[in-house]
Amino acid sequence: MGDRTPETVPEGVDVSRPSVARVYDYYLGGSANWAVDREFGDRVLRKFPLLRDVAIANRMFLNRLVRYLSKQGIRQFLDVGAGVPTAGNTHQIADEMAVASGRTPDTHVVYVDYEPIAVAHAEIVLDQEGNTDRHGVIKADLREPDDLWARAMATGLLDPDEPIALLLIAVLHVHQPGADGVTDIGPESVARLRELLPAGSYLAMSHITDEGVPPEVGENLVELKRMYDTSSSSNGIWRAHRDVEAMLGDFEMVAPGWCWLPQWRPEESGPNAHSISFATPNHAVGWAGVGRKSR
Ligand SMILES: C[S@@+](CC[C@H](N)C(=O)[O-])C[C@H]1O[C@@H](n2cnc3c(N)ncnc32)[C@H](O)[C@@H]1O
Repeated sequence: MGDRTPETVPEGVDVSRPSVARVYDYYLGGSANWAVDREFGDRVLRKFPLLRDVAIANRMFLNRLVRYLSKQGIRQFLDVGAGVPTAGNTHQIADEMAVASGRTPDTHVVYVDYEPIAVAHAEIVLDQEGNTDRHGVIKADLREPDDLWARAMATGLLDPDEPIALLLIAVLHVHQPGADGVTDIGPESVARLRELLPAGSYLAMSHITDEGVPPEVGENLVELKRMYDTSSSSNGIWRAHRDVEAMLGDFEMVAPGWCWLPQWRPEESGPNAHSISFATPNHAVGWAGVGRKSR
């Protein structure tokens, strides 16, 4: 997987262009990336060095989120757009929480991604250190929510009658073209998944926004979008706050409400949390929020 010679590229993996999942893996110091991804990642980081800290802050949000939801009694996670596994994945955080509170690990996690390398890598990680009775990964597309849901349930790992935490972490700012190849169908796909979730479920999101960021960072985001749009596997879409927030629909907002990544429940930080400090929370460019389906 980490062998970087071009001839070891697995079948079905497109290395003609950088992939969002593999470049993100590169920002986080992973090895599931190829020269095309690293060359692009380096170009991006030269223009916008802060992006690596943004990626780490996003992972730290995921960490606090899973810790928090575990404390709320959530025992099922559907992690969509989960990416290439890196340190501190959802199943590991949930299992650590169980052990810390004296429970036998009992949380079920299904990872979903449409990028073959993310899925292949997750299979390896789960084979080596997961528990196949509780953890699984499927290749599915958020833009086909009914198919995604059916296949997630077909794993037998999730009970559709019990609350599920649907994680959409740093996914919806990847443009989600519909059948016309242009119109973004991310919000309608999320709306359908909200309908499918049973009562008591949660939906958690983080999303890059260009609203309310410092002017120089706003300029970086313009350039970042241009670079992804012209060179990578997917375009970027930096939504305004109200457009991100609308994707929670009528779910009840969990305190503290929508905020910048570092501001979401810092008190939930675990013992292994990286400390990333930004000049202001707005420099983190990630808008984060969690809602609960009450009925
Ligand atoms: C920036 S990464 C985020 C990874 C992880 N959620 C995190 O926050 O660390 C975005 C991931 O979303 C995945 N993704 C984007 N659109 C998707 C879709 N329509 N269906 C499934 N996965 C998708 C990409 O392949 C990529 O792995």
